[in-house]
Amino acid sequence: MKTSGGSDATKRRAGESAAEAVTDGDVVGLGTGSTAAHAIRRLGERVDAGLDARGVPTSLASRELALDAGVPCLDLPEAVGPGGPGIDLAVDGADQVAVGRGDDPAVGPLIKGGGAAHAREKLVDAAADRFLVVADPSKETPVLDGSVPVEVLPAGRSAVAESFLVFDASFGAIDDPALLSTTLSTTPGVVEHGLFVGLADEVHVGTESGVRVARR
Ligand code: A5P
Repeated sequence: MKTSGGSDATKRRAGESAAEAVTDGDVVGLGTGSTAAHAIRRLGERVDAGLDARGVPTSLASRELALDAGVPCLDLPEAVGPGGPGIDLAVDGADQVAVGRGDDPAVGPLIKGGGAAHAREKLVDAAADRFLVVADPSKETPVLDGSVPVEVLPAGRSAVAESFLVFDASFGAIDDPALLSTTLSTTPGVVEHGLFVGLADEVHVGTESGVRVARR
């Protein structure tokens, strides 16, 4: 599983903090990456202790980890399709989190997808009633300026394995993430991209001494 950024201890504090937000009966979107992995492991411990919770994984890696940890899993269509229980909250990592600016200074937009799971992550995170981001301090930034994964449909490819290409696109400082998100989403051939704008409800940042939680 991909790891990046801060220490494992800060990632663990962030992930475990978000896992504590799960309540009995919840269906939980299970993010991808090393920080979300800590949330999945902690959720498994809570299920083992009697919590009734089910997961909706955002990747094969998170599914395998959840099943290993003892968290029962639903597929996304089972969760959000007709008659499904829906998704109460999602817990997922980020490559960058914008904080402290704009109309929503506490919880800003994100860049995700360093691992190419962003399309499925966005489906699950957007479907959840609440989306909790888990991050170490290295992910926080006043202005998003990291590379943005952009998934495109190459014309003329027929094999399923070659149906999509993911580019890491650099835009420099992203002063208007909502505008860039709309521009990318409306570009012909772009299937999905790693800008998550207006989706996060909480950010749990693990520090060397505890956890900072920002809510909108
Ligand atoms: C997966 O596609 C990514 O969005 C990860 O959630 C993100 O890269 C964070 O990864 P770490 O928690 O491993 O830093």
